[in-house]
Amino acid sequence: MNAILERYSVRRFEDREVEPEKTEAVLRAGMSAPSGGNQRPWEFYVIKDKDTMEKLAGSSPYAMSAAGAALVIVPCFRTEGLIYPELVFMDMSACVENMLIEISAQGLGGVWLSIAPYEDRMRNADVILGIGDGLSSFALIPVGYPAMKRTVPDRYEKNRVHDR
Ligand SMILES: Cc1cc2nc3c(=O)[nH]c(=O)nc-3n(C[C@H](O)[C@H](O)[C@H](O)COP(=O)(O)O)c2cc1C
Repeated sequence: MNAILERYSVRRFEDREVEPEKTEAVLRAGMSAPSGGNQRPWEFYVIKDKDTMEKLAGSSPYAMSAAGAALVIVPCFRTEGLIYPELVFMDMSACVENMLIEISAQGLGGVWLSIAPYEDRMRNADVILGIGDGLSSFALIPVGYPAMKRTVPDRYEKNRVHDR
């Protein structure tokens, strides 16, 4: 529960590498997400090449933070052979949230940079990654050690809860 309550978006990072076992823990968390019919539509690109990271940072007007991270995880989704294609964005959202929580639990920082459902951003990122046929990018997650730490306010709002 702490990792959920302590998670916040990190967009500025230390110039420090992320240990491979921490990256694997984050990917494992993503792959542990629930999905419709357990269809697990995801594939993951782990980008460490600075030139590619800078290109990805330009794939959306709100993705500048992808340029300064230690690495960028790009969760992608399969577009063919799915049992429930209409559930794919929900599957991928659960996957991304799991990864963000694990990033926080590992003492790292990250942020969800939206690519899907914006077709121009998806096309941009797909071209940069050299993917297409049967696979499309969903989001960018820059990952690294946070340049600054902060505390998170309690967002519980009793008035959002409705008893019947
Ligand atoms: C679906 C979704 C899309 C988002 N897209 C972006 C984005 O493109 N760029 C960005 O800097 N942050 C993006 N964010 C991060 C939000 O701005 C952030 O989660 C929100 O302001 C709450 O702050 P917190 O994550 O620190 O709690 C996105 C978050 C979600 C859930």
